[in-house]
Amino acid sequence: MTQDELKQQAAQAAVDEIEKDLQDDVIIGVGTGSTANMFIDLLAKHKHKFQGAVASSEATELRLKEHGIEVFDLNEVTMLDVYVDGADEVTQELNLTKGGGFALTREKIVAAVSKKFICIADASKAVETLGGFALPVEVIPMARSYVSRQIVKLGGSPVYREGVVTDNANVIIDVHGLKITDPKDLEIKLNNIVGVVTNGLFANRNADLLLLATDDGVKRFEA
Ligand code: A5P
Repeated sequence: MTQDELKQQAAQAAVDEIEKDLQDDVIIGVGTGSTANMFIDLLAKHKHKFQGAVASSEATELRLKEHGIEVFDLNEVTMLDVYVDGADEVTQELNLTKGGGFALTREKIVAAVSKKFICIADASKAVETLGGFALPVEVIPMARSYVSRQIVKLGGSPVYREGVVTDNANVIIDVHGLKITDPKDLEIKLNNIVGVVTNGLFANRNADLLLLATDDGVKRFEA
């Protein structure tokens, strides 16, 4: 199976997972990226069964609206029942690296207010230890050089993602060369650097359910 076919299977599995709980007052948190896009397209077939969605990026908001799904400001919502999103790397412990599509900050915010975080991914994203995929860090522009120097002290090799401006008008530094054996600790250490908005480790608020599409079917990993 191709990677896109596997992503499609993971997206369908997420729709199957949440379909039974859709009701008039349900608002769904929706992630960003190609797998999340497939989820949106499949979810749209059920749009009359739920109230709407909260988007984790401007691109996702646009796609939801194109399907006629109402998009709510997160400030209008106290708690979301479920958040569905992809990832760049996943472990069986349900820790994730995200932000390849530089939507990490809004993704982390939506995940934080969701009761359940369902991660959907194809098998190529599964790793034993995070760090093979360079870790994205969203940074206030004037702090870019300072933050990069602090990242070097933590053992990483920072690379400025040139030409990218996030939905929050910040920049992205991708951190290469990390073998992330303690993702919870590193997530906190990176967030403690002044000028860092957030980083792409989802370990302190990790996924509750991973739907991993493989050639042998969609495998479930649960907290
Ligand atoms: C967006 O910033 C990311 O966190 C995505 O969720 C992640 O990059 C996965 O993207 P794909 O589904 O396109 O692989």
